[in-house]
Amino acid sequence: MRSTWDALARADPGIYVGDPARALAELESLFGRLGADPRGGTCVEVGCGPGRMTGYLAERFDRVLALDVSPAMVAQARARAYAEGWDNVAFEVVCGERLDGVAGGMADVVVCYLVLQHLPARRLVEAYLSEIGRVLAPAGTAFIQLPVLEPGLVARAWRLLRSAAVPIHALLARGPEASPALRGVRLSGSELGRAIGSAGLGVGARDTGPDAPYRFSRDVFLRLERA
Ligand SMILES: C[S@@+](CC[C@H](N)C(=O)[O-])C[C@H]1O[C@@H](n2cnc3c(N)ncnc32)[C@H](O)[C@@H]1O
Repeated sequence: MRSTWDALARADPGIYVGDPARALAELESLFGRLGADPRGGTCVEVGCGPGRMTGYLAERFDRVLALDVSPAMVAQARARAYAEGWDNVAFEVVCGERLDGVAGGMADVVVCYLVLQHLPARRLVEAYLSEIGRVLAPAGTAFIQLPVLEPGLVARAWRLLRSAAVPIHALLARGPEASPALRGVRLSGSELGRAIGSAGLGVGARDTGPDAPYRFSRDVFLRLERA
């Protein structure tokens, strides 16, 4: 995951991270579609990238802890924070399987946007949901987005084929664009529901986008709270 995202950090962020010009609109849409307008307290941003959304989070919250698996992404975000004077933001590089070093119960809000879709194994998505449950304060709220596999046999069959094709393509094509750490995996709705429950979380609000830039998937937006 780290080498893939370090390589992608050197590429066009508009392609692999998200359009910088749309960051505020996307953040406001994430909160708004889930009936929330969180402000104040401590926000943990999981997968901050080069800081596309981090400055807008810094305006809303008293403190932001921005995490990413990629030191190159964090270096870009830190440089931006320094240039723009975001003095309430701290950055940490995490190992990619856990939110290392983040104390349990310290987050009033967790934001995880355009990240879970890239994790290369279902167990990692489950581990991240569990970690989000761990770091949330008892009255905290997590806002997450991920594409979820559509119901039906065709979608399941496509996922099976894809799970075989992605590693083969990565071997043949090489390069970060073919990496499983970019391509990610898709959970079904029931797999996601079980993972949320196992993480000790409950769904406070849910919204579904019209589609996702992934086949047989729809973007799902969730407001999660400790169960
Ligand atoms: C598509 S970018 C989105 C960045 C940011 N959330 C945004 O919307 O602008 C995905 C980010 O997730 C990070 N990432 C990927 N896997 C991760 C993991 N296991 N733990 C933490 N960050 C990860 C990547 O390094 C990258 O910066």
